[in-house]
Amino acid sequence: MSYQFPVTRNANPKSKPSADELVFGKQFTDHMFTMDYDEEQGWHDGRIIPYGDIQISPASSVLHYAQMMFEGMKGYKTEDGHILLFRPEMNARRLNRTNERICIPQMDEELFVDAVKATVREDADWVPDAPFTSLYIRPFIIADDPALGVKSAKHYRFMIILCPSGPYYAANRGKLSTTRIFVEDEYIRAAHGGTGYAKVGGNYAGSLRASKKAYACDCNDVLWLDAIEHKYIEEVGSSNAFFVIGDEVITAPLAGTILPGITRDSVLTLLREWGIPCSERKLSIDEVIAAAKEGALKEAFASGTAAVISPMGVLHYLGDEYTIGERVVGPISQKLYDTITGIQTGKIEDTRGWTQRVI
Ligand SMILES: Cc1ncc(COP(=O)(O)O)c(C=O)c1O
Repeated sequence: MSYQFPVTRNANPKSKPSADELVFGKQFTDHMFTMDYDEEQGWHDGRIIPYGDIQISPASSVLHYAQMMFEGMKGYKTEDGHILLFRPEMNARRLNRTNERICIPQMDEELFVDAVKATVREDADWVPDAPFTSLYIRPFIIADDPALGVKSAKHYRFMIILCPSGPYYAANRGKLSTTRIFVEDEYIRAAHGGTGYAKVGGNYAGSLRASKKAYACDCNDVLWLDAIEHKYIEEVGSSNAFFVIGDEVITAPLAGTILPGITRDSVLTLLREWGIPCSERKLSIDEVIAAAKEGALKEAFASGTAAVISPMGVLHYLGDEYTIGERVVGPISQKLYDTITGIQTGKIEDTRGWTQRVI
């Protein structure tokens, strides 16, 4: 089945930013998707409308108890003018895993993907094509029951907004570069049994204080350690984290506290295909620092839809700074970046069925 949605066209389309004006997440396209949920009708009345402010009751549960979730994905322009999505069915699956965790009703995964495609198609001429640019897609669900009281809501709204975007880290403007990363030893992001594996807003609100500390040390993002011992690597900002020590590429296991990144899964698939030894295992910050001191820490990088592959150059931990490799973009990071962005933009043949065409 293929879902169709009515469209109300924006009578006042905006002028589009030029490629060098693009940042991450500040400019929005002319349209957005909205759909309602209630117990009688389920998800219903999906439609595309002009982008604009929305009205909700000040008593809405999302505003008080943060019953909400979101996803993050991108649309990529190919050289011959098509627009591709990268593994959108994985976003649909993750949306439902998040929904299950915070008691938001499940959504038909085909409905989700069709809604994304229809919205992107409507604003197809907003998808930028310069290097390091793409159309960031933000689907989200809010509980908008107009009633106080901590309980799961009976009414929800699903929306999709789109923003033409430049690089996530300013360090990567114009070329792939390295970032400075702050290792957080005091605050934690997620504990076992919590919501770390789900994409819920509260996880990110709780991270802001650590980000402030990172920025004060001139760092671009936060590397989280585990909640119990403040010892094992979890993930970095809104990305998963990989470390190349000797010949082994290491990332944290999916044990409920980190987000199961779609880029992470793609990185592991590619590394395994290339015969590069990689492990999903517990990695302590002590092991990372010892490797940095011995010169065995060859590369580290963050992986995510927004960050793509963002190589790290410096770790700031307990007031000291440790250099990763030669503080330049390493060969594994570069090859992963080139391959993933190559597949996403149609420059490299997609032999794994990872891309889906919007137009
Ligand atoms: C906390 C966190 N970890 C990891 C990721 C990377 O996931 P993905 O590769 O699916 O974008 C994200 C981004 O969605 C995130 O917010």
